Amino acid sequence: MVVAVDEHFAIGKDGHLLWNLPNDMKRFKDITYGHHVLMGRKTYESIPVRFRPLPGRANIVVSRTQQFEGCKSVATIDEAVAFAADCNERELMIIGGSEIYKQLFERTDKIYLTIVHHTFDADAFFPTIDWNDWDISNEQRFEQDEKHAYAYSFLDLTRKQPTAKYTLAK
Ligand SMILES: NC(=O)c1ccc[n+]([C@@H]2O[C@H](COP(=O)([O-])OP(=O)(O)OC[C@H]3O[C@@H](n4cnc5c(N)ncnc54)[C@H](OP(=O)(O)O)[C@@H]3O)[C@@H](O)[C@H]2O)c1
Repeated sequence: MVVAVDEHFAIGKDGHLLWNLPNDMKRFKDITYGHHVLMGRKTYESIPVRFRPLPGRANIVVSRTQQFEGCKSVATIDEAVAFAADCNERELMIIGGSEIYKQLFERTDKIYLTIVHHTFDADAFFPTIDWNDWDISNEQRFEQDEKHAYAYSFLDLTRKQPTAKYTLAK
């Protein structure tokens, strides 16, 4: 999973992100570029039209109602995972939103996490992380500056006891 949360695991409101942090957008691109990215229909629609499908990535959009040009549209999450596996993808990047994170959280062994050190009014949330279940590596904190209204941290989390429920590599 790739996600940015506030101090209370908030991720969005009214179909949009809660902040504009250019360094986090760069990290998101660096992590996901060249990979398959899986997202819910509402997250796909939240991406500005000129930036979608996300370039350099196979965009997989899960929806029971809609299909999108230039994307792999799937009606179930299992179909998305099977598609990535068929393409020999080793790491399927789950990029939100709340509904998708909740359904896949227990089956996820790695989280590229950004914590925004602030609290926002929100209507979309990431599942609460039990820190006992995860090893943290590469923790980096950045302070507020002229381009970033909030301090934020990047962390890589690896589940201590992998679930191996969805193994992509054949
Ligand atoms: N901070 C972050 O890192 C981050 C990342 C991503 C998104 N977000 C935010 O999260 C919010 C959007 O999250 P959300 O939970 O409202 O929506 P979402 O998870 O992006 O999309 C929900 C939609 O996905 C489809 N869906 C969900 N589960 C499905 C399933 N099992 N099978 C088939 N289709 C399924 C449905 O589409 P249909 O209704 O078409 O069937 C559903 O309405 C926005 O505010 C966005 O900005 C934040």
